[in-house]
Amino acid sequence: MQFPAAADTVIDRLHESRDTFADVTKSGSLKVITSLLRPAVRGYVLRRGKRDDGRTDLETAAPAQFDWRYRRDRQDLAKLYRTAKQAQWDSDVVLDWSTPVEIGNPGKPLMDPKLFPLQDYPAFQRLSDAEKADQGHALVSWLLSQFLHGEQGALFAACQVTQAVGWIDGKLYGATQAMDEGRHVEVFHRYVDEKLRRLYEVNDNLYVVIDALMCDHRWDMKFLGMQILIEGLALGAFGALRQVSSEPLLRKLLEYVMRDEARHVAFGVLALQRYYKEGLSAAELREREDWCFEMSVLLRNRFLAHEVYDEYWAHKMPRRQWNEIAMTAPFMLMFRKRMFKRIIPNLKRIGLLSERIRPHYAQLGLLEYEHGKAATELAPDDLVQDVE
Ligand SMILES: [Fe+2]
Ligand SMILES: [Fe+2]
Repeated sequence: MQFPAAADTVIDRLHESRDTFADVTKSGSLKVITSLLRPAVRGYVLRRGKRDDGRTDLETAAPAQFDWRYRRDRQDLAKLYRTAKQAQWDSDVVLDWSTPVEIGNPGKPLMDPKLFPLQDYPAFQRLSDAEKADQGHALVSWLLSQFLHGEQGALFAACQVTQAVGWIDGKLYGATQAMDEGRHVEVFHRYVDEKLRRLYEVNDNLYVVIDALMCDHRWDMKFLGMQILIEGLALGAFGALRQVSSEPLLRKLLEYVMRDEARHVAFGVLALQRYYKEGLSAAELREREDWCFEMSVLLRNRFLAHEVYDEYWAHKMPRRQWNEIAMTAPFMLMFRKRMFKRIIPNLKRIGLLSERIRPHYAQLGLLEYEHGKAATELAPDDLVQDVE
């Protein structure tokens, strides 16, 4: 049984998360701040994603809509469903799991060691090659563990979206996405478990985003959070890792997963584009714009491998210094660039990049991506190339 955190622990955690809470209030929208407050308390203060028994029970709000007439009137979604059926793959067949992955061998790193965030930091430079390789292993394991946790969130969100979406063509498509996400959980877990042999707990920021969208009762918020933001982040991260790793099994695995993810983002864009044009008031659209901006800031600023910091560096440097190093490290810069390259054009396509919100994104230097192609304009293979 987990006991409530003691008051001094709670205060410590609030203090540690003060920058994140400041980020959560950036848009100034009271509605958005209120909707994120409970997930933030559950994630940052109560650490619901990090329980000793490795489980989290969440009371979710998920509407379901039945369509007894089975109207097949969304040709665009029906086409995506046909594509998805034909693109299913079996990881036992297409991936060679006998590929040896050497852990801790400085001669065969999982990712280019020049890109390790602490590369220019003197205390890191003084480590032996074996110690550096160990920390490289930790970082890749951390990243892939977060992919795995994100995929579990995607699996549940896909199930919620499937029952909630208002078109039967969307429900049929959603069923293929649930299968895809199940397969992604399978392959990332197998890689982490068999090859890396090191599983990290869910990152607090990722937990908060997943919690927020699972518990929001509005179906389109689940689409926004999962199909546009988290899938966009995933595509950026998968592409970035694929580029810096020369490990063949991991590269192949990521390529297959990315093809699936490209369809998932396209589903989000197709579903939301029409709904936002026809079904929402100006005030409702404003709230969604602000919510996306908050989430983008959270994902951009706060995906900083704190679990690796806690393990190796907490007693050697303050967390703020680690954050600065992680924010400016080449791999993290590349990762963020990839992520927003995918997210911004899709937000624009669904109508959530109005003149009102543009200056906020411009301030973060993110508007340069607005003329990129939206997910619906890219074939899955183009997308694998495009993010690299
Ligand atoms: Fe996935
Ligand atoms: Fe996905």
